[in-house]
Amino acid sequence: MPVEQRPPDVPAGWDLPPAPGGRETPGGDRPWPTAEAYELVVNGETREVTGGWVGESLLFVLRERLGLPGAKNACEQGECGSCSVLLDGVVVCACCVLGADAAGAEVTTVEGLTSSGAAADVQAALVGAGGVQCGFCTPGFVVAITDLLARSPDATELEVREALSGNLCRCTGYGRILEAVSEVQAERRMAGGPG
Ligand code: FES
Ligand code: FES
Repeated sequence: MPVEQRPPDVPAGWDLPPAPGGRETPGGDRPWPTAEAYELVVNGETREVTGGWVGESLLFVLRERLGLPGAKNACEQGECGSCSVLLDGVVVCACCVLGADAAGAEVTTVEGLTSSGAAADVQAALVGAGGVQCGFCTPGFVVAITDLLARSPDATELEVREALSGNLCRCTGYGRILEAVSEVQAERRMAGGPG
């Protein structure tokens, strides 16, 4: 029996089937709905998304349509955090958000954090502490750690563990990642001087 993959609530304004260029549904003759072009604000830049399907995830749109491969696709079901991005300042799994639903929001990917320098010390500490092995989880950790320390610079180890609990790493055993966070906290305290 064909699986209905179309989202139940299609936003108003979408050009619903039949749409030119639509793909065939598995086992059906109705084309996929094709989205009108929409705009995403990503890393401070307005980017146009064209030719997409309304059911594409934000992760797919970022990686495959906008050329931003920093967010990784590991589980594609909200379990691993490798696809973490900020959506209006909140960490989300980009695989669980529809790209079209992010229109009008501010999306920040790891590329935006690293080009601004906001995550430079986090990256360096992860590398220095041996918190990067295969590296597949690393961009998600960089996003989550950068966000946590911006909100809570003096987060306790328990708070760090809790904040990173949605990010899975299958190489490092987490100890080195926690060590890296603690190094960044110490360095930032020193740079901030006494007080
Ligand atoms: S790829 Fe999104 S949570 Fe794993
Ligand atoms: S370094 Fe390989 S999964 Fe984390």
